[in-house]
Amino acid sequence: MDVPIYTSDVVIVGSGLAGCAAARELKKRGKDVIVLTKLHPLRSHSGAAQGGVNAALSEDDDVELHMFDTVKGSDYLADQDAVELMCSKAPETIRWIEHMGAAFSRRPDGRIAQRPFGGQSRPRACYAKDRTGLTLLQTIFEQADREGVTFYDEWYVADILYKDGKAYGVVAYNLRDLKPAIFNAKAVMFATGGYARAFKINSNAHANTGDGLSIFARHGLPLEDMEFVQFHPSGLAGTGILISEAARGEGGRLYNALGERFMEKYAPEKMELAPRDVVARAIMNEIREGRGVGPDKMAVYLDLTHLGEELIMQKLPELRDLAITFLGQDMVKEPIMITVTAHYSMGGIPVTKEGRVKKNPKELTEGLYAAGECSCVSVHGANRLGANSLLDALFFGRYVGEAIAEDLEKMTFKKAEPQEAKGMLDEIEFIMKNHGSETSAKLREELQDSMFKNCGVFRTEESLLKQKEILKELRKRFKNIIIDDKSHTFNTDLQEAIELGHMLDYAAFIVEGAIARKESRGAHYREDYPQRDDEHFLKHTYGYMDEEGNIQLEYGDVVITKFKPQERKY
Ligand code: FUM
Repeated sequence: MDVPIYTSDVVIVGSGLAGCAAARELKKRGKDVIVLTKLHPLRSHSGAAQGGVNAALSEDDDVELHMFDTVKGSDYLADQDAVELMCSKAPETIRWIEHMGAAFSRRPDGRIAQRPFGGQSRPRACYAKDRTGLTLLQTIFEQADREGVTFYDEWYVADILYKDGKAYGVVAYNLRDLKPAIFNAKAVMFATGGYARAFKINSNAHANTGDGLSIFARHGLPLEDMEFVQFHPSGLAGTGILISEAARGEGGRLYNALGERFMEKYAPEKMELAPRDVVARAIMNEIREGRGVGPDKMAVYLDLTHLGEELIMQKLPELRDLAITFLGQDMVKEPIMITVTAHYSMGGIPVTKEGRVKKNPKELTEGLYAAGECSCVSVHGANRLGANSLLDALFFGRYVGEAIAEDLEKMTFKKAEPQEAKGMLDEIEFIMKNHGSETSAKLREELQDSMFKNCGVFRTEESLLKQKEILKELRKRFKNIIIDDKSHTFNTDLQEAIELGHMLDYAAFIVEGAIARKESRGAHYREDYPQRDDEHFLKHTYGYMDEEGNIQLEYGDVVITKFKPQERKY
């Protein structure tokens, strides 16, 4: 088999904040590192984050308060040792990236500006207008490049090389010409992003398909807390494109069709700045009860007109552009229409604080690491606070890079063989040659549509069991797939079919975890079990997939240190 094998100390899959931060640390420490990415690194989804990155910097804030807000926001499911590590390192992380050139917005006295975000006791989100993710991504990519990290752009990673608990590389193909290659390394790190694209209305980039998770799951490795999917309160009506929480942080107000500022009913103290799960449910409730706006009554109004053009242009220019481009609505002059949008994955590949991938709640794999949204460390528990995701990706990306550099000293190199690319080549051949009648566009639409309806903001036993059956049927139909494009040049038809296979796999974890969790916690809201149930469910879900795609669950402990679970009110 003619498959080239490239070797390095470490191979990193994904070039967003976590991937670039880890790569830079490794290279600085003299390690040989290759980053594989589907896109150009600057098009990674981290660049779409708008509103900010949290750190307790101001004189009236402190790390303990940041920790408490994070744990309370998580509905007490976050592991508090990991939260403490992340929050205590947040100020240093901001200084680190700032010293590398990240241009944060400033206060009049020159200090980094910070804005309020949902569920936070203090204005804590450091920002660069409403392009924070892009600013950070440009900075860290530039620095990784400067250190000499090798980037392989437009490569699709289809599998890991993993045997007897040890990872030793990945199998990939070049999107330009479908040529396969093996990347053989002592350590493999995944930073491949989240899984919110399983839902119809979502804020995720087209390429952000979450494949990393199911690549691991297909090797019998667990996925953790997959039932927790964050629905962001403000996506543009119709498309779900993110309209940053910064809009509400700067003073935006929500109104229903009757002109009522409805958050008064749901979170009288925090109002529009309650955490995302609370605001998203409030919006969906207004819509369900017939007080929605827009042609299909599936939106509510976000009003920023009272802020004035100067402030909007100074702090939210990108948001204004997006609403004009996609809705024809100018937020300076009129309220814009927004609706909830699947945004962030709290669950993912279970890892230790150092990013070491778990084989089960108690045991670790060897040579396998993950960081950023594809991982579950777990600092977000059942609901992430806004502006903690950029912090998670940046801090843990760097931290995991350092941990890998240390671990490498005691790792051995396992040589890969060309025939280990066979699984990927068989998958490509099957899709290229199959003469079925199902297109991936149709199957994906049915998957996303049904996930949004049956496993969305509100869930019941009935809706979830129905979704489980739909997924089984879609899996069967996937075997009957056909693609039009048989070429070897940028074959997006093939790529989308492969990605759909992954979406079907990880969607099953979301649904199975949601069926079993008979309580409401954070973003997981069961109408038939509206209360949180700490006695039975203050625990992490671990799911494992068998060859037929059935999911088995087990549970693991939550780390509780400083903050005992309390009732969560805003
Ligand atoms: O609303 C936002 O700007 C998103 C930020 C985040 O998800 O942390």
